Amino acid sequence: MTLSAQGPRIVALLNQKGGVGKTTSTANLGAAFAVEGLRTLVVDLDPQSNLSLHFGHEQEMDQRSVRDLFVDDSVAASECIRPARERLDFIPSDTELALVEGELALRPGMQRILADRLAPVLGTYDVVLLDCPPSLGVLSVNALTMAHEVIVPMQAQYLALRGLEKLLETVLLVERSLNPGITVGGVLLCMHESQSSHGRAVVEEIERYFARHRGDEVPWRDAHVLKPPVRRNIKLAEAPSFGQTIFDYSPKCAGAADYLALARGMLERWRGAGQERRAAAAPASV
Ligand SMILES: Nc1ncnc2c1ncn2[C@@H]1O[C@H](COP(=O)(O)OP(=O)(O)OP(=O)(O)O)[C@@H](O)[C@H]1O
Ligand SMILES: [Mg+2]
Repeated sequence: MTLSAQGPRIVALLNQKGGVGKTTSTANLGAAFAVEGLRTLVVDLDPQSNLSLHFGHEQEMDQRSVRDLFVDDSVAASECIRPARERLDFIPSDTELALVEGELALRPGMQRILADRLAPVLGTYDVVLLDCPPSLGVLSVNALTMAHEVIVPMQAQYLALRGLEKLLETVLLVERSLNPGITVGGVLLCMHESQSSHGRAVVEEIERYFARHRGDEVPWRDAHVLKPPVRRNIKLAEAPSFGQTIFDYSPKCAGAADYLALARGMLERWRGAGQERRAAAAPASV
């Protein structure tokens, strides 16, 4: 079920704030895309290595990880890929990735290392999801340099909005210098409680912010608050302790329904955009 002849759709899940739902969303959106028939790769860029927990993967001595791609040119990306589920693969991280961040800052071209090293395997996939660490450092910039799209998992809270502006500034810098095609798909509300009036006000403020920038020359000109929000659901927090995604652990719960609906919405949007591009490129009929 190929999305594009040009290779996979690459999405970075990014928020410099910790604990907002980046890893939960990467694992379960990845699993949802695989359920929908897409060949999916998820990459753990966080030294905390939480993504692996969702797939029941134990860190082993001498295992290849995303760290090798940053520091060892003799290791191929294909050696780092682990099968997780049908149509779903992942590249684990390891705690020493934290040390790499400081070393990398001094290397020329350090922003493009991930893009260059993953290039040989991208043709195998329809979707690639990048789980970023909670910072806007070198690892997140590597994700932004290769991504087509950024999704920002967050909660509907006032301070989160200030953080969003800072994050968008970073995306703008990357767009201007490294990756002119990058766009912000939108904000993904995680652990959402729709009955909170403060939450509703913040969501409206984010929508207004995006609406003010429609048509501007900024990467978030088409951004939205993605639908549906992912409701707070204890099963999403429990699943990783059993080494499972939500589709293994509780496929009928609200969390599974929300991530599946989100994945379907994203697919629809990407396919719609692809058709628009093809229609624009086609010669006008007489
Ligand atoms: N919808 C949800 N309902 C209930 N718990 C959730 C939900 N989404 C995430 N959680 C829980 O919230 C915590 C933080 O989520 P997660 O690890 O995905 O955030 P993160 O942004 O990746 O964190 P970090 O910045 O540390 O990498 C985890 O314990 C997770 O299980
Ligand atoms: Mg995380």
